Amino acid sequence: MTRTVYVNGEYLPEGEAKVSIFDRGFLFADAVYEVTSVLDGKLIDFDGHAVRLERSLKELDMASPCSKEELLEIHRKLVELNGIEEGLVYLQVTRGSDGDRDFVFPSADTPPSLVLFTQNKPGLADSPAAQKGAKVISIEDIRWGRRDIKTVQLLYPSMGKMMAKKAGADDAWLVEDGYVTEGTSNNAYYVKNGKIVTRPLSNDILHGITRAAVLRLAAEAQMEIEERLFTIKEAKEADEAFTTSASAFVMPVVEIDGVQLGDGTPGPIAKRLREIYLEESRKKAV
Ligand code: PDD
Repeated sequence: MTRTVYVNGEYLPEGEAKVSIFDRGFLFADAVYEVTSVLDGKLIDFDGHAVRLERSLKELDMASPCSKEELLEIHRKLVELNGIEEGLVYLQVTRGSDGDRDFVFPSADTPPSLVLFTQNKPGLADSPAAQKGAKVISIEDIRWGRRDIKTVQLLYPSMGKMMAKKAGADDAWLVEDGYVTEGTSNNAYYVKNGKIVTRPLSNDILHGITRAAVLRLAAEAQMEIEERLFTIKEAKEADEAFTTSASAFVMPVVEIDGVQLGDGTPGPIAKRLREIYLEESRKKAV
């Protein structure tokens, strides 16, 4: 089936959608993005994603392409047109193009480019991967210093995933100065003696929308949480571990650098948090 996508005000068949070759998203990765999940045909945590998008744009001095209400309408229309029950909506805003390549930003009145498309993922909530749990490897974090801004500079995270695949694992956790920052496309946690440990928010990691929701739900469920730096060694000695992201919700981690955690199956806290998160998100979906 041909998808209908959104490009700068138009809904088009995917093969007809076009962006300039001079677009700064293409030439300079001068662009930010959001990924919002869809369950039961509804958007999960839309508000959080819209607020973070505004922040990313502001941090990069980039113009906002439209209001939050218009964004919600575009998301909903694409979900409807493409008949998405479970899946994702990808959104990207770039600094646009003034028709040439120049390191200097184009004038402030250059319109940003706005592109959205859907990804149909039946079975996203009931994923076999989550039942099995993920194996991760650790690699050095050599990304730039503003990981709190959700830019499309994803070459190194892509390489990290490839390194993981090559090593027979599913994903990679990034390590800087001896401490885990986050996963290639998710936030990272371990659990020891019932306590959830995760890195505190800073410019070093993306401020995950799923992270915020999961930590709030964990606190409400009287789970103990410690936000502090942690090493791969600590994580390997943990009872269990997991990651959070809009595309995989709460994903149990069962192996780190070849070391099995617990009995090698998803841990009870990760499983419980996944259940609570899915339940609460479905209730609040828009
Ligand atoms: N990635 N950290 C990084 C580096 C990420 O790329 C992501 C999300 C997260 C989790 O953020 P959230 O809970 O808001 O999805 C953390 C998206 C899903 C992606 O790139 O596809």
